[in-house]
Amino acid sequence: MTALATRDYALDGTESRRAVDRGLADAEWFQADIDPATLRELTVRQNLRPALDIILWLALIFGFGALAWSLRGSWWALPAFFAYGALVGGSSDARWHECGHGTAFRSQWLNDLIYYPASFMLAREATYWRWSHFRHHTDTIIVGRDAEIIFPRQPSVGRLVWMFTHIQGGSTLIWTTVKHAMGRSDANVEVLVPEQERGRVFWEARVYVLIWTATIVWAIATASFYPLLLIGGPTIYGAWLVLFFGVTQHAGLKEDVLDHRKSTRTVLMNPIFRFLYLNMNYHIEHHMFPAVPYYNLPRLHREIRDQLPEPMPNTVATYKEIVHAFRMQAQDPTWELPREIPDAPGHRGPIVQGFEWVGEKAFGDGFDLGPADLADGEMRPVEIDGVSRLVVAAEGEIFLVDRVCTHGDADLSAGIVLGCELECPKHNGRFDLRTGEGTRRPIKEALATYEIRIRAGRIVFDHHQNESNS
Ligand code: FES
Repeated sequence: MTALATRDYALDGTESRRAVDRGLADAEWFQADIDPATLRELTVRQNLRPALDIILWLALIFGFGALAWSLRGSWWALPAFFAYGALVGGSSDARWHECGHGTAFRSQWLNDLIYYPASFMLAREATYWRWSHFRHHTDTIIVGRDAEIIFPRQPSVGRLVWMFTHIQGGSTLIWTTVKHAMGRSDANVEVLVPEQERGRVFWEARVYVLIWTATIVWAIATASFYPLLLIGGPTIYGAWLVLFFGVTQHAGLKEDVLDHRKSTRTVLMNPIFRFLYLNMNYHIEHHMFPAVPYYNLPRLHREIRDQLPEPMPNTVATYKEIVHAFRMQAQDPTWELPREIPDAPGHRGPIVQGFEWVGEKAFGDGFDLGPADLADGEMRPVEIDGVSRLVVAAEGEIFLVDRVCTHGDADLSAGIVLGCELECPKHNGRFDLRTGEGTRRPIKEALATYEIRIRAGRIVFDHHQNESNS
């Protein structure tokens, strides 16, 4: 057995320190080239389309739930509960995911409205898992950094099959929640959740435990296990669907690489699967451009597919590939699935689009930052005295802010303007353009904002004016 067989996947273990030393933590990732205007179009969010998807999903849940309940006592209840459980404990994962990113709906309150119940359906504590998922996107499949690696090496086919029962995974989730409800923290919370938000983790856990307890009391009072099949139970018996889709994302692929094309898989799926999974089968595309809502991922796939490895043709072929990889890695944990990666230039790093305007001294001491003819949502990267900034038009006003996100090194010019907020393309954190304050996690530090003036139809930045304001 090689040394890799004993790698430490814990977030506070030796591999975590090693990843930092090797430059794998908070690193710059490969990103495919895409026309900025097309990317901006693709990041536009809607309310109607996701609302229709959610309404259909809820109608199916309530329909199968009512059917299952009405058939209790009969064997016919089994298939009805099977479908209900998969919808509640399985397909809620994709809703949780999209609304957690804040990309499903244009209106943030609608994302939150779905995110919290979907978190409960999966027994995922809402705040903890939000932070866990930020890390998953920062350090995807980096050992010791990513808490969402579900198949540590050495994997095995037996473990894959066992995982589908979700007995172990579900019990761990429930027991962790109970511990948090008792106010007991753990290494993952300490590492991932900022101190000021840890109280929320405990209170959310208490709400979950309260609902589970009430359901158990209901079941005991009625001497029936059916309440448990309706509430709480689907987290376990419906989770096979989470795994069915989720396993395809990264299993068997490379660890510790800063290129999603090597660690992540795109699988072509049929329309029913894509509805249940909300297009997350375009997983490389999602990881490269997490600001793109699920309904635009098929088009994003078409735009950049020549820069990606061939997608897997279907789910069956994907499972065959995973089983093969697990068999090989069971013998040699360093074995890697061969992947043909197109020789695309792409880019890395925060500044991806160059400067449209280099501010020129004009108007006395002011810098000319170009014409003030930007429509709402338009951005113009500018350089002033060698410093990169961003002109943003929103709600009829024009703002000047720093170009690099305060959370990581993401280029905000590849982000999206939502009302008077600027959303970062990397983790979907948001800034208020008027004040620079963070309005959505994971932003903790405000973005610098600068005063500008409009003179003769031009945007003017004046050092003196900004110095006197600072
Ligand atoms: S880099 Fe994380 S929100 Fe911007």
